Amino acid sequence: MTELDARLGALLQGRKVKGRFRSLKEYDTSSQSDLIDFSSNDYLSLTSSKALRKAYLARLASSPTIFGSTGSRLLSGGSQAHASLESRFATFFNSPSALLFNSGWDANVSFFATVPQPTDWVIYDELVHASVHSGLRSSRVPPERRLAFAHNDPEGLASVLRQITSAASSSDDRSTVFLALESLYSMDGDMSPLPALLDVMEKYVPRERQCVVLDEAHSTGVYGDKGTGVVHALGEEGGWAEGEAGRRGKGRVDIRLMTFGKAVGCAGAVLLCSPTVRSFLINFARPLIFSTALPHSTLIALECVWDILQSREGDQRRLSLFDISTYLHDLLADLLRSTPPGLLHLPPNPIVPFPDSLSPYLPPDPPTPILGLLTPTSHALSAFLLERGFIVRPVVPPTVPPGGERVRVCLRAGMAKSVIEGLVSALREWVELKTREEGVRAKL
Ligand SMILES: Cc1ncc(COP(=O)(O)O)c(C=O)c1O
Repeated sequence: MTELDARLGALLQGRKVKGRFRSLKEYDTSSQSDLIDFSSNDYLSLTSSKALRKAYLARLASSPTIFGSTGSRLLSGGSQAHASLESRFATFFNSPSALLFNSGWDANVSFFATVPQPTDWVIYDELVHASVHSGLRSSRVPPERRLAFAHNDPEGLASVLRQITSAASSSDDRSTVFLALESLYSMDGDMSPLPALLDVMEKYVPRERQCVVLDEAHSTGVYGDKGTGVVHALGEEGGWAEGEAGRRGKGRVDIRLMTFGKAVGCAGAVLLCSPTVRSFLINFARPLIFSTALPHSTLIALECVWDILQSREGDQRRLSLFDISTYLHDLLADLLRSTPPGLLHLPPNPIVPFPDSLSPYLPPDPPTPILGLLTPTSHALSAFLLERGFIVRPVVPPTVPPGGERVRVCLRAGMAKSVIEGLVSALREWVELKTREEGVRAKL
């Protein structure tokens, strides 16, 4: 073993001792397998859609170019197909412009590493995705100007904004206050109380000094008319001058990130922004400048997915997902009422429902397809569920804050209600077993 291997091995051993060791696991989730996958982000079950498969194969067969793009967007990798997909997205999401990235990770890192300037402030929900932190770490914004606020808490945001306005110096007069949020948080499975947070921003920061950035990774394709997302459903898309690029955006969310690796069933992402931000990223975003652009096969797949999202099949898939999500939430609420919280509980997040009248496409308390079930023994619970045929992955620190160990349950539109019932009865079995074990221990 080399000296390096020995040192790395010791560091890995440290992770094992802390119960934080990660390894790659492959499960057979094909149609021949008996395992049921509750860990996939394929919320609309599009990766197994027969209609999508047929359309994709037909389009591949008739397309002159299907392989790699052969270069960065700035060199040989830029094609008419990339530009035309961006134009489709700009129209679909009602944005003045759109810029493709190879992943949501790349898009967040690119944006947060380059767009906020040294005299700006970046305020973020404490649970925003790791990619935002990675971007900020390589940005020129000093650490003392990057501040977290308590998850989904409008009062927490107000308190941070009061703090920065009282600390403001004269050089802050022209600084921008960035606000980084997600529409649906992937670990707790709760929606952002977006209107309430935007109201707080409006109260403390003049509109021309705000830049609200919303990551819709887990809501792309799922919420809003045809899956246009939460911001579009709330009519909050904005961030550009009236008449710019021929579109109007009166809303208060300036930048949106829509990703393609989850409900869309492909890979890549699109950042929806003003033409100026788009041009800035093309000039400064290293993951975009120095990496090969999305391959043609992916562009073709995305065109086919969007045909489905915009069709009746898309609507049906969204409705099925909401239906089973509500079903699971109800069954779980019933189980958790009689479960000691120390054994299993939902994150204690306050739910701030959307005001009723906001959108026909977004109910006040929309059902979400993600559930984080907190338990101190997430690995043991995951193994127990696997023995009963359910893939439910444990999530442990540092992916979640210490004390936030959980198993994460994700639903897919194609799941039958009987499968959901099966999972809940396995959870009930585990709760009963653990409660009995605790009872025996207490008697000893
Ligand atoms: C909220 C959020 N943003 C961004 C990303 C990164 O997206 P991608 O998987 O396309 O790199 C993820 C992926 O897990 C995510 O959950």
